[in-house]
Amino acid sequence: MASILRTWVVFSLFLGVFLAEIGICISAKVHIVYMGSATGEDPDGGLNRHHQMLAAVHGGSIEKAQVSHVYSYRHGFRGFAAKLSEDQASQIAKMPGVISVFPNAKRRLHTTHSWDFMGLAGDEATEIPGYSTSSQVDLIVGFIDTGIWPESPSFSDTDMPPVPARWKGKCQSGEGFNSSSCNRKVIGARYYMSGYEAEEDSTSAVSFRSPRDSSGHGSHTASIAAGRYVANMNYEGLAAGGARGGAPMARIAVYKTCWDSGCYDADLLAAFDDAIKDGVHILSVSLGPAAPQGDYFDDAISIGSFHAVNHGILVVSSVGNEGFKGSATNLAPWMITVAASSTDREFTSDIVMGDGTNFTGVSLSLTGMDASARIISASEAYAGYFTPYQSSYCLDNSLNGTKAIGKILVCRHAEGSTESKLAKAEIVKKAGGVGMILIDEADKDVAVPFKIPSAIVGTVTGDNILSYINHTSNPTSKILRAKTVLGSRPAPRVAAFSSKGPNSLTPEILKPDVTAPGLNILAAWSPAAVGNMQFNILSGTSMACPHITGIATLIKAVHPSWSPSAIKSAIMTTATILNKKHRPITVDPDRRRASAFDYGSGFVNPRRVLDPGLIYDLQPEDYKTYLCSIHYDEKSIRLITGDRSTCNETLPTVSDLNYPSITVANLKDNFSVKRTVTNVGKPSIYQAIVSAPRGINVTVVPNQLIFNSYGQKMNFAVHFQVAAPKNGYGFGFLCWKNGKTQVTSPLVVHVRSSDKGLMR
Ligand SMILES: *[C@@H]1O[C@H](CO)[C@@H](O)[C@H](O)[C@H]1NC(C)=O
Ligand SMILES: *[C@@H]1O[C@H](CO)[C@@H](O)[C@H](O)[C@H]1NC(C)=O
Ligand SMILES: *[C@@H]1O[C@H](CO)[C@@H](O)[C@H](O)[C@H]1NC(C)=O
Ligand SMILES: *[C@@H]1O[C@H](CO)[C@@H](O)[C@H](O)[C@H]1NC(C)=O
Ligand SMILES: *[C@@H]1O[C@H](CO)[C@@H](O)[C@H](O)[C@H]1NC(C)=O
Ligand SMILES: *[C@@H]1O[C@H](CO)[C@@H](O)[C@H](O)[C@H]1NC(C)=O
Ligand SMILES: *[C@@H]1O[C@H](CO)[C@@H](O)[C@H](O)[C@H]1NC(C)=O
Repeated sequence: MASILRTWVVFSLFLGVFLAEIGICISAKVHIVYMGSATGEDPDGGLNRHHQMLAAVHGGSIEKAQVSHVYSYRHGFRGFAAKLSEDQASQIAKMPGVISVFPNAKRRLHTTHSWDFMGLAGDEATEIPGYSTSSQVDLIVGFIDTGIWPESPSFSDTDMPPVPARWKGKCQSGEGFNSSSCNRKVIGARYYMSGYEAEEDSTSAVSFRSPRDSSGHGSHTASIAAGRYVANMNYEGLAAGGARGGAPMARIAVYKTCWDSGCYDADLLAAFDDAIKDGVHILSVSLGPAAPQGDYFDDAISIGSFHAVNHGILVVSSVGNEGFKGSATNLAPWMITVAASSTDREFTSDIVMGDGTNFTGVSLSLTGMDASARIISASEAYAGYFTPYQSSYCLDNSLNGTKAIGKILVCRHAEGSTESKLAKAEIVKKAGGVGMILIDEADKDVAVPFKIPSAIVGTVTGDNILSYINHTSNPTSKILRAKTVLGSRPAPRVAAFSSKGPNSLTPEILKPDVTAPGLNILAAWSPAAVGNMQFNILSGTSMACPHITGIATLIKAVHPSWSPSAIKSAIMTTATILNKKHRPITVDPDRRRASAFDYGSGFVNPRRVLDPGLIYDLQPEDYKTYLCSIHYDEKSIRLITGDRSTCNETLPTVSDLNYPSITVANLKDNFSVKRTVTNVGKPSIYQAIVSAPRGINVTVVPNQLIFNSYGQKMNFAVHFQVAAPKNGYGFGFLCWKNGKTQVTSPLVVHVRSSDKGLMR
C-alpha cells in the first residue's frame, strides 16, 4: 500500500513537471528583460537576481525559473532573456530596475535576397596613400553575422603578428569548428542560438552548430571589411583579378547570431554583451529590423550598440533593403548607418533579337546560346488552371512544357516580390525552356547567377521586347554569356533597393548617414552554401556596411584616440555628392537626382577620411542628453546608463545634437541650430559656404572660424528663415572650407508653414 502510494506521488510529481514544461512550450515566448548599463558590482551575481525575478512570476519556483531562463547579459549591460507568458512579461516589466521587456523579435540580414547570389565587385577600398595604417594589426573588428569559413584564403594569417594582448575573447568549438579553426587573423569566434531555438521548430535544419558559416553572408561581409589579399579572386571567370578587404591586416572576431531563417534579439544581445567584454574596437552589423523600426529600447541592435558606443566601440550598420521613402532602419544616432550604391563595374548579357535589334540585360549567366531560338511571353505558355497573367510571372508549375519547350520565355518579377529570380530560371528550364528574359518591375540591376542563358531587363526594355514579339510573325532571340563591363554608366548610383530616409523614429536625425558600394560585390563565400563556391557576388546594404567598417578601421589605425563619433564625422563630412563624372549622384531605377534621404552625407571618399580638418564630436553624455530630449524620463535614463544621471540638461531642440548632418523637422518661420566643431588639422581659418534649400534663407553665425591649435573647439549657429513658403522637404549643404579642406554637412529642412491656412 505504502509503495503504491509512493509510486503515485512520484508519478504526480513527474506529471506536474511535465505539465509545467508543456505550459512553457505552449504559451510562453522568449522575452528580453532589459535592465540598463552594467554597473560593475556583482559581475556574476546577476544570474541569481534574474532567477529570483523569474521565480517571482513562476509562483516562487526556482526550478521553473531556471527552466525558463535563456541568457543573462552582464558585461556591456544588464538584463536577461527568458520564456515568459504575456502576463509574466508584464509583471516583470513592473519590477524595479526593469527598463523594457520585449519579445524576441527576428531581424533580417540586409542582403536583397536570401536565394539569389547577387551583384558585382566595386572599388575595393584601398589603403590610403600618404599614411601608414600598419597599426591596423592591433585592431579587432567584430562581425555579428552568420559566422565564418575560416579556411578561405581571405582569412589566412600568413605574416600576421601574435594576437593583440587586449583580446579577451575565445574560440568556441562546435560542429566542424575547433580551437585550431581560429588563427592570427580570425582571433575569436562564438555562436549564439538559444534565442533561435526557442522560437523555431527544433527540427528545422541547422547547419553547423558552431561559428562555421553555412550561409556565406558572414564570410562575405567579413572579407569585404578585413579580408586578406587574394590574387585570383573571381566568380567563375567574371570580375577576375586580385581583391581584398578595406583593412586586410586587422583582426576578425566572429559572433554568429544569424541562422537559416534570421537573427533573434536574445542572441544578438548576447553577442553585443560578449563583444564589449572581449575587447573589439569596431562592430559591423549587416542586419536590422523591418521598417518601420520600433522604439530604441525595444530593439536589440539599438540597445547593444548604445552600450558598445559607451564603451568606445564604433558600430557600423546597414540601412536596409526595403527601398521606399521612410524605410530606413538602424536609426539610432550612436550608429553609423550605411546605404548601398553601384560601382562602375556591371555584369551584363547582350540580347540579340531576330530583327537585329540588341538589348542589354543584367546577368551572371555563365552560359550563352549558340543559336537563336523562338521567343514567347510566358503568359502564352500558361498551364492547367493558371491564368496567362499568373503564368507571366513564371510561378512553379504554371508553364506548359508543350508550349515552352525549346523557347526563350519572357517572365515577370513583381516589385516587392520575395520570389526567387534564380528559381524562375529553374522553372523555365523544368518546362523545357532554353532561355529566360526576366522583366524586373522594380528595375533593381541586381545580377543573378542563372543556370540557363538569362538576363534581367527593366520595364522599358521589357515592353520593347514584348512589342517585338507581338508584331513579328516568327520572333526569335539569342542571349549571350554574361560579361564584365566597366564604366558604361555614371557611377556611383544609389541602388534601387537601398532603404531611404526620412527617419521614422526621430525626424531630426538624418538617416542613412553615408553610402558605399553594395551592388554586385565580389567577396569570400562559404563552400557549404548554395553553389559550392569560394567567392561569390552579392548585393545589399549588408555589403555596403562592411566597406565603411573597413574604412573606419583604417581611420582608427591612424588616429587611435578618436572617439566613435569622430571617426563617423570624418567619414560623413568628407563624402561626396557627385559621381565620377562630376555630376550629381542619381538613384536607380529612374535616375532621379539623389537627395540626403538616399545617401545621407554622400558616397564615402576613402582618400579624404584621414584628414577631415574639423570633426563634429559626441560623447556618451551627449547621447544621454539626446535621450532626455526625446521622450525618456530621468528614471529610464538612469536605468539605461546605470549611473546617477539626471535630465538636468536637455537639448533646446533635438536638431541641436552635435551630429555631422543638420535636419530641421518642422520649420514654420525661422529656426536656429547649434553646432560645435573640433579642429583636428593645422591652425587655419575656415569660411562657411552655404547652398540653401529652395525657398529658405540660411545664415551661419559666425561665418568664419579661426583655429589656433589642434583640438580647439568652436561653436556656430545656423539660422533658417522661410523666404518662399512651400511645404515639404528641401535639401542643401553647409561647407566649412579652408582652401584645401572641405567639411560638408547636408542641410535637410522640412517646411510646414501654411498650417494656419489649412481647415482643421
Ligand atoms: C580540429 O579540426 C581540424 C580540421 O577541421 C582537425 O584536423 C583537427 O584534428 C581538429 N583538432 C581537434 C583538437 O579536434
Ligand atoms: C548586336 O550584337 C551582335 C553581337 O554582339 C553584333 O554582331 C551586332 O552587330 C549588333 N547589332 C546591332 C544593331 O548593334
Ligand atoms: C499544354 O498545351 C498542350 C498544347 O496546347 C495541350 O494539349 C495541353 O492540354 C496543355 N497542358 C496543360 C497541363 O495545360
Ligand atoms: C501584346 O499583345 C497582347 C495581346 O495580344 C497585349 O495584351 C499586350 O499588351 C501586347 N503587349 C505589347 C507590349 O504590345
Ligand atoms: C547636471 O548634473 C551633472 C551631474 O549629474 C553635473 O555635472 C552638471 O554640471 C549639471 N549641469 C547643469 C547645467 O546643472
Ligand atoms: C522668428 O520667429 C519668431 C516667431 O516664431 C518671431 O517672433 C521672430 O521675430 C522671428 N525672427 C526673425 C529674425 O525673423
Ligand atoms: C532672404 O534673402 C534675400 C536675399 O538676401 C532677401 O532679399 C530676403 O529679404 C530674405 N528673406 C527673408 C524672409 O529673410
